[in-house]
Amino acid sequence: MSNLWQNAMDHAVAIARKSGEVVREALRDDRKVMTKSSSIDLVTKTDQKVEHLIIQSVREKFPSHRFIGEESVAAGETCDLTDSPTWIIDPIDGTTNFVHAFPFVAVSIGFYVNKQSEFAVVYSCLEDKMFTARRGGGAFCNGEPLQVSDQEDVRQSIIATEFGSNRDVEAVDKIFSSLRNILCLPVQGVRSAGTAAINMCLVASGCAEAYYEIGVHVWDIAAASLIVSEAGGVLMDVDGGAVDLMSRRIVAANNRTIAENLVKEIESFSPTRDDTPPPQVNHY
Ligand code: IPD
Ligand code: CA
Repeated sequence: MSNLWQNAMDHAVAIARKSGEVVREALRDDRKVMTKSSSIDLVTKTDQKVEHLIIQSVREKFPSHRFIGEESVAAGETCDLTDSPTWIIDPIDGTTNFVHAFPFVAVSIGFYVNKQSEFAVVYSCLEDKMFTARRGGGAFCNGEPLQVSDQEDVRQSIIATEFGSNRDVEAVDKIFSSLRNILCLPVQGVRSAGTAAINMCLVASGCAEAYYEIGVHVWDIAAASLIVSEAGGVLMDVDGGAVDLMSRRIVAANNRTIAENLVKEIESFSPTRDDTPPPQVNHY
């Protein structure tokens, strides 16, 4: 990364840390929950407050920059990634965890220019782990360099995945069929942290060989993708092609061998893309 974006990255780290304080405080006494698309698609005042805090503070410093934020999109904003400098924000990745005080919750901030990730910040608030990466500059946790695992045998791996919030029976059947295939390879373990960003940081840290999910959103994976690749890992679509951040499908692995062995076991399906325009309402 050129030094051009260093100020922006410093700001992202500072605002992620500040957001983490807000999340930790709210966890003690304000976890009132609301729902979005369904009874299991949760949001809280804290998600909205933290997203507002991040966007306001960035706007003051970088008025021409654009944003894709989970709660702004939920409120009707478009989810378009253009060539302009764009901050992709998940104020709380792991909202269901937050609501239940299950202790893995992250603030995720990705920064893209010309559709390319320049830097990334994932702050695991309760563990107080600040994951960062710069394009071409490596990945770090609390300043210590990260390196993916060197395991090449999928049968000696831990695979992270999530069940997401889709309860459509056909989708659930495919999710379980994939899981069955993977468990029966057999792999040594399957894990779920409850946040895509932290699952991916576990891959970057060498604690899990791979993470895959169908149903994630761009804001869940925009930052952690760079953290994985800068730690030496690979990103792939669940069909084995190139990853597409808007497709809601991802495999993040320590290396191509593990990723390719994993995708053979995944029954893929295609949720509605994040960049699908909302349906037009005709006012006659
Ligand atoms: C969710 C979490 C979860 C994953 C979902 C995500 P949210 O994000 O990352 O682990 O399974 O696909 O949407 O709603 O907590 O920001
Ligand atoms: Ca979220």
